Amino acid sequence: MKQLTKQDSKLANLIKKEQQRQREQLQLIPSENYVSKAVLQAVGSVLMNKYSEGYVQKRYYQGNVNIDKIEALVKKRALKLFGLDEEKWGVNVQPPTGSVANLAVYTALIKPGDKMMGMFLYDGGHLSHGWQLPDGKKVSFTSQIYKPCYYYVDISKGVFDYEQVEKQAKKEKPQIIISGGTAYPREINYKKMGQIAKKVGAYYMADIAHEAGLVAAGVNSSPFKYADIVTMTTRKTLRGPIGAMIFSRKKYAEAIDRAVFPGLQGGPLNHSIAGIGVALKEAMQSSFKVYARQVVANAKTLAKLLQKMGYNISSGGTDKHLLLIDLRSKNMTGKQSALALEQANIIVNKNTVPGDTGKPWNPSGIRLGTPALTSRGMKEKQMEEIAGFINHVLEHQTDKKEISRAAKQVKAFAKQFPVPGLDS
Ligand SMILES: Cc1ncc(COP(=O)(O)O)c(C=O)c1O
Repeated sequence: MKQLTKQDSKLANLIKKEQQRQREQLQLIPSENYVSKAVLQAVGSVLMNKYSEGYVQKRYYQGNVNIDKIEALVKKRALKLFGLDEEKWGVNVQPPTGSVANLAVYTALIKPGDKMMGMFLYDGGHLSHGWQLPDGKKVSFTSQIYKPCYYYVDISKGVFDYEQVEKQAKKEKPQIIISGGTAYPREINYKKMGQIAKKVGAYYMADIAHEAGLVAAGVNSSPFKYADIVTMTTRKTLRGPIGAMIFSRKKYAEAIDRAVFPGLQGGPLNHSIAGIGVALKEAMQSSFKVYARQVVANAKTLAKLLQKMGYNISSGGTDKHLLLIDLRSKNMTGKQSALALEQANIIVNKNTVPGDTGKPWNPSGIRLGTPALTSRGMKEKQMEEIAGFINHVLEHQTDKKEISRAAKQVKAFAKQFPVPGLDS
């Protein structure tokens, strides 16, 4: 960062501090990861200088000869990675975030005032699936435009009872049903969800923002056979830059494209799209399958170890990269626990758990994930040490001396593992 340091030392120093933080702390936010140096180089490239409103060979500005080739290549790779036939599926790689991708799908397929049905947020659902608070406050813009309704987990088990989901769908008669969540630790039965949507005449959108990398690697099941639309973010388990993709059955592809541009945005983030392309190529390598398998093995190990230490793991475990600790039985709060862990260099987020009576800003759980730790080369053995750190900090969360001792230990532990993009 020589040039940046010379020209703007203030910002350069802040970036260096963030590099240091990413090295010295344990990143357990399930939606975060470390991109490779190659991805960083693509994202930090001159592609961001180019305006390219429109699509491949249908641009509103001249000078897109290279951008066209890049976007076409990324689309090809995206379809190939998920084993999709170009004749049957379209893909849009332009949305800047998962929330915008989801909004584009609704814009394309349903009308303002139509009903959308998603996973209840306190049970793991996402804001962009029509979230409004139980008191009716419309938190997400999607709930202002559309009429939201939800399906719920069976609170005693922390998992979906698909008969109940079907009953709810028949009662609500939504125009679109959405599966996927931000804090649901189990695999979703895409076949069942697709059947339910069909029965009530709704579109079925599977949002695999979290699991995209696991699905690509074949470690989690794939929704493509059953869904009309599949959306995903690219920065989580897929280990790409910030961005999103919308896969749609061919008959919807044109409407989706129109909804993204000109419906919701102007020029796409070409640098990010190129970074996605690099990540897609990485995800095609056999080493990515090994990585994805390890992500899940690490999460399962962490869940088991914490369970043995007396923690209540929502749904009793995990099928993927994330787990939820329900802290109610420990008389701890999510907020205080997450803060104490941060002081000890362990980064998690507070989260609601099924049946939570706490509010999202002071919920009863914490959410942990293994994608970033696994990208640093950590395996089951390291999960044992990390479970020990977490337990120690949670049990001593009001003891400043113990927390600062743990912070030093965690920092020394974390620094042993190279950070992709920085050290390797
Ligand atoms: C299931 C799901 N969908 C959509 C999103 C939205 O992604 P973004 O933060 O890029 O808007 C997320 C983000 O965590 C998510 O978990």
